[in-house]
Amino acid sequence: MSERVPPPHGVMEGKGAYNKHARIQASGVSLAVPFLESAARRIIPGPADQSIVIVDYGSSQGKNSLTPLRAAIGTMRSFLGPNRPILVFHVDQPANDFNTLFEVLESDTDSYALNDTHVFPSAIGRSFYEQVLPCDHVHLGWSSYAAVWLSRIPVPIPDHFHSSRSTGAIRTEFERQAAGDWEAFLALRAAELRSGGRLVVVLPAHNDRGSPGFMNLMDHANAVLAEMVAEGAISIGERERMILGSYSRKRSELLAPFARAGHFHGLSVEACEMFANPDSAWEDFERDGNKEALAAKHASFFRSTFVPSLATALGPTRSGEELGAFGNRLEVGLKDRLAQQPPAIELAVQAIVLAKLPAA
Ligand SMILES: C[S@@+](CC[C@H](N)C(=O)[O-])C[C@H]1O[C@@H](n2cnc3c(N)ncnc32)[C@H](O)[C@@H]1O
Repeated sequence: MSERVPPPHGVMEGKGAYNKHARIQASGVSLAVPFLESAARRIIPGPADQSIVIVDYGSSQGKNSLTPLRAAIGTMRSFLGPNRPILVFHVDQPANDFNTLFEVLESDTDSYALNDTHVFPSAIGRSFYEQVLPCDHVHLGWSSYAAVWLSRIPVPIPDHFHSSRSTGAIRTEFERQAAGDWEAFLALRAAELRSGGRLVVVLPAHNDRGSPGFMNLMDHANAVLAEMVAEGAISIGERERMILGSYSRKRSELLAPFARAGHFHGLSVEACEMFANPDSAWEDFERDGNKEALAAKHASFFRSTFVPSLATALGPTRSGEELGAFGNRLEVGLKDRLAQQPPAIELAVQAIVLAKLPAA
């Protein structure tokens, strides 16, 4: 029996699985790259003998960070010159698959670190709900699809695992937790940023119909979990503890901390934009009509992004094999359901750009 290592909440599926299957996130990231380039252009670089510091908050295994960070570094090189040292910190939870991150930085042809000997990548294994770097240290911060994960799950949700299906007092608790976590995240980043620094945060958004756009997928997964309870693969208690601490904020919720005074902990909003985020799996399906392939892509996305967090609810006596079997059963069941009724996923993404401007 293999030793059980409990997967912490919010961490993605390891051994490079997230890098392979996070195409939805990759597509949202690519839409936000122009915001990061424009923010990189506006930083105040400070004295020429000091290194430039870029931080990637919630990097996971790094693949989706390569394009934005390469774009940011390229933009900065145009005014910093080729020799100014640039330190890049990838921040994630200690249980993140940092091995894959470093392999990607060394060998992926898109890596920002390949052709620039004055770029120095490193990683920090600490929650971004703590301060991760000294005060007044960071020139440019980037965070994609990460601050959607809350610091804790405030309350259980009856009959579902996703906060978007909660109502009444339960929904209010999630809203309160999300508001507090967003303020905490911003206050910590404001402390770490240097004067003139910029922070770009990319998050899943609500689509035109006010939904995160993937609730069909979540409902199918919820139905598979019910099947798993019925067949005895998981207990009722385990199912009840399966809650995702992930919360898609509305634009008004992102802007709320800035509403009162026009700034928050010295940060002000330079842009806040939302875009439709095309689902490449659905576009492939429209071309080839292959339901099985569509279902497999959506099920792998679900598994690599959400299953490790759901698996945290499995009882402490569960072995490593049982954790793997849980993921396999959920992925296969989801794929079967999705192949029968392929759901269109109508996603949106939002980017908020924040500046720490010098005190007047
Ligand atoms: C969906 S992945 C996003 C990865 C990548 N930035 C992207 O755009 O594809 C979310 C990442 O945020 C990380 N994360 C969640 N909560 C975190 C926290 N409190 N501190 C640091 N990282 C966290 C997870 O471990 C995960 O690697």
